[in-house]
Amino acid sequence: MLLEIDDIHVHYGKIAALKGISVSVDEGEIVTLIGANGAGKTTTLKTISGLRSLSSGAVRFDGRDISRMPGHKRVLAGIGQAPEGRGIFPGMTVEENLLMGAYARKEDVSKELAQVHELFPRLAERRTQAGGTMSGGEQQMLAIGRALMAKPKVLLLDEPSMGLAPMLVQQIFSIIVEINRRGTTVLLVEQNAQQALQIAHRAYVLETGRVVKAAPAGDLLDDPQVRAAYLGGASGADLAAASDVASAEADDTSGADDTPEADDDAEEGTSR
Ligand SMILES: Nc1ncnc2c1ncn2[C@@H]1O[C@H](COP(=O)(O)OP(=O)(O)O)[C@@H](O)[C@H]1O
Ligand SMILES: [Mg+2]
Repeated sequence: MLLEIDDIHVHYGKIAALKGISVSVDEGEIVTLIGANGAGKTTTLKTISGLRSLSSGAVRFDGRDISRMPGHKRVLAGIGQAPEGRGIFPGMTVEENLLMGAYARKEDVSKELAQVHELFPRLAERRTQAGGTMSGGEQQMLAIGRALMAKPKVLLLDEPSMGLAPMLVQQIFSIIVEINRRGTTVLLVEQNAQQALQIAHRAYVLETGRVVKAAPAGDLLDDPQVRAAYLGGASGADLAAASDVASAEADDTSGADDTPEADDDAEEGTSR
């Protein structure tokens, strides 16, 4: 296993957020954590990247126990994270934001920059634009691109599709698949369970700080309990058909949505 968290307990003050979570991620996999708000998904990722400390349990990465390793060393060891809410630096340019992702590396990073530009041509076009003036979808791309600049072995993604127009959601999910195809292991947290299960190899369902189910992702798409709780009760096939309709509708109505971000995002989607 590349990454293993073993029976971890994490507290916020006296409140137990994680009550014994075990998750493993093998090299080359896309693994997804799904679950309702407050289930402990973000806390799990923060514990892996070293932003929260353990009350008990262990985090192992690449054959080492990293439970007590500081966060910046975990980045160097190969754990990259695009945090919830993106966390880009609004006053820095797109390119400066990307270079921040590689700040801890001494060697030349032009190769990584070229690869990020290849994955996200928009970031190349907008390299001198201030990060804070990019649209929601572009900022998400920037957050992922910045994490990739550190050449992670595993990429932790916290709700990358949050708040994005349907077409942008599709684009982000395709890029995650492509990042994985190029060799980066992915641990993906999503509330958009249907899409996450469609691209992941394996999945864990979290409820109030515990893992209540672990299975191949495809099995969970057809699991009656998972369908009822996280997929609106419809079958996987129904949902696939519904998402086709939804993206067709988004095509038709791209100019009708009155939020500037959705407008921009929808145009971006149709221009490809
Ligand atoms: N900074 C915090 N202070 C206190 N409690 C928190 C904090 N962040 C998260 N929690 C609590 O920890 C639990 C798990 O939260 P979180 O990991 O953010 O869940 P998720 O990402 O699945 O929505 C929730 O009960 C939440 O209220
Ligand atoms: Mg969260």
